[in-house]
Amino acid sequence: MPPSFESSITTLTGTAASSPVSEVDEMHAAVPNVPVISSLSSVYSVSALPSQEHRWASLVASFEQLYPNEDLTFIARSPGRVNLIGEHIDYSLFDVLPMAITQDVLIAVHVGATDGQIVLNNTDPHFPARTFNIADLKEIEIDATVHEWSNYFLAGVKGAFSLLPSAKIPSMHCLIDGRIPTGSGLSSSSAFVCASLLAIVTAVKAMAPNSTSFASAVTKSDLVQSSVVSERYVGVNSGGMDQSASVFGVPGHALQVQFYPALKATPIAFQSDGFAFVIANTLVVADKHVTGPIHYNLRVVETAVAAEILAKQCGLGPLPIRDGFGGTVRGVVEAFKARGVDATGVMNKVKEVFSKEEGYTLAETAQLLGQSELEITKKYMTRFPVRFERFQFRARALHVLEEAQRVQKFCQMLTHAPADQDGADAEEQYLRALASIMTASHQSCRDLFDCSCEELDELVGLAVANGAYGSRLTGAGWGGATVSLVRKDKAAEFVQCLKKEYYLKRYPEISEDKMNDAICITEPALGSAVVVGNYNV
Ligand code: ATP
Ligand code: GLA
Ligand code: MG
Repeated sequence: MPPSFESSITTLTGTAASSPVSEVDEMHAAVPNVPVISSLSSVYSVSALPSQEHRWASLVASFEQLYPNEDLTFIARSPGRVNLIGEHIDYSLFDVLPMAITQDVLIAVHVGATDGQIVLNNTDPHFPARTFNIADLKEIEIDATVHEWSNYFLAGVKGAFSLLPSAKIPSMHCLIDGRIPTGSGLSSSSAFVCASLLAIVTAVKAMAPNSTSFASAVTKSDLVQSSVVSERYVGVNSGGMDQSASVFGVPGHALQVQFYPALKATPIAFQSDGFAFVIANTLVVADKHVTGPIHYNLRVVETAVAAEILAKQCGLGPLPIRDGFGGTVRGVVEAFKARGVDATGVMNKVKEVFSKEEGYTLAETAQLLGQSELEITKKYMTRFPVRFERFQFRARALHVLEEAQRVQKFCQMLTHAPADQDGADAEEQYLRALASIMTASHQSCRDLFDCSCEELDELVGLAVANGAYGSRLTGAGWGGATVSLVRKDKAAEFVQCLKKEYYLKRYPEISEDKMNDAICITEPALGSAVVVGNYNV
């Protein structure tokens, strides 16, 4: 198994990575860097390579057409992710289990034009060209009230300045090509932010005096941590799962990402060859930026305030604050653990403290916390405003605690394959047991966390009815995609069934191409990389 990537929030203590593709000598580096690669065959799997070669060739051709007098200096790349299990618990500091996917965001860059500008063009005409003066970038404010695609690039700029405060950003002419469907739970936003940050620091380092190579532009840990903080500038109070998966991704492995006591990503190889994961997009776009106040950002408030109330009501003392925001359910669990109370005990406390199943008004919350409504509003609901009638502390906290246990169980099972001599039956039982954890996760997301929707529930139901061992929503929810565990030898047939039963029924006019984009058998892919040199193979 490749070693873990580790770092504390302020001090990097990463172990060396043995990424099979890096052409940088990472084995001897104290902290693993984002790899610099000169061949596409080091980025993509054999099965993905033919279509990627075609796509990269067309990106290079478009770049040359758009900027005829400018060389392509490098291409920065960061992938999307699918989360196998552990939904909405990263911001409570519990482990999650995502993996990077083949679909990614590419930013082709010419560095060194002398016009003092960053020019952003996008291969998708939905995202019109934007230009920024470099002189304005250091002080630039991101208006989170506006849904503007270039805000995600500017988030990368913020991240670059946090890593390199005195950086002199050179002129950059960019062409962006993203193949992760947006708002589909596969984290196009984080892939874009990570790729942007990576492109900027790579450009800065490339233009630095005496620079001879692109290597060592940034460590993986720095890229993750800086991207997590900077993506929040777009107005979504997200956790750290997406950026971790996008940057740390290892081909053939899922990643157990831990946030407590420090960020750490441990690659887990699949022990059984007999299964595959299928991603199916409902085609319901879940725009987190727009619905944040009633969905995502509200859940972050509910879980943080639930933790603070538990600490107050159970006399646990002040909780450690996560990212300057608030206490966490993980903090509550650790405080109880120190007092000899186990997970079941904590769940009983949650039920006891939050006995009102109908939820809590702001006035009731203020009473439980011993703080004024104004104080609570200022602390938790100002930078990321939310709208609600009653906070659902009980259901949200129970989901977080139970989902955290499911992740532990799932990871344990993934690392212990059924013994060979047990034969086919053992494998079948193993897959059923794994999948039942996924299905329980979906039910909890639907019933306790209220982050599913009709189409997600329908797709999950159809998946199970058509041979999946288990299925669940993946990512934030409220639309977006599902992930299903299926037998590898039945995966293609399964895909056909869902095309017929879901896509052609709900969207009779849908094209074959659109369906092929919407549903695919996925494989764990490489994380962020800079590609320099040969963009053809
Ligand atoms: P989730 O966060 O649920 O996993 P997601 O990241 O795809 O899914 P959002 O967080 O809502 O969804 O981010 C989507 C936004 O990211 C888009 O509306 C767009 O502004 C920006 N974005 C993503 N990919 C690109 C791209 N290739 N080009 C331009 N903007 C992009
Ligand atoms: C989004 C966020 C992540 C995580 C998931 C839900 O993708 O960006 O941090 O909270 O939702 O698990
Ligand atoms: Mg996102």
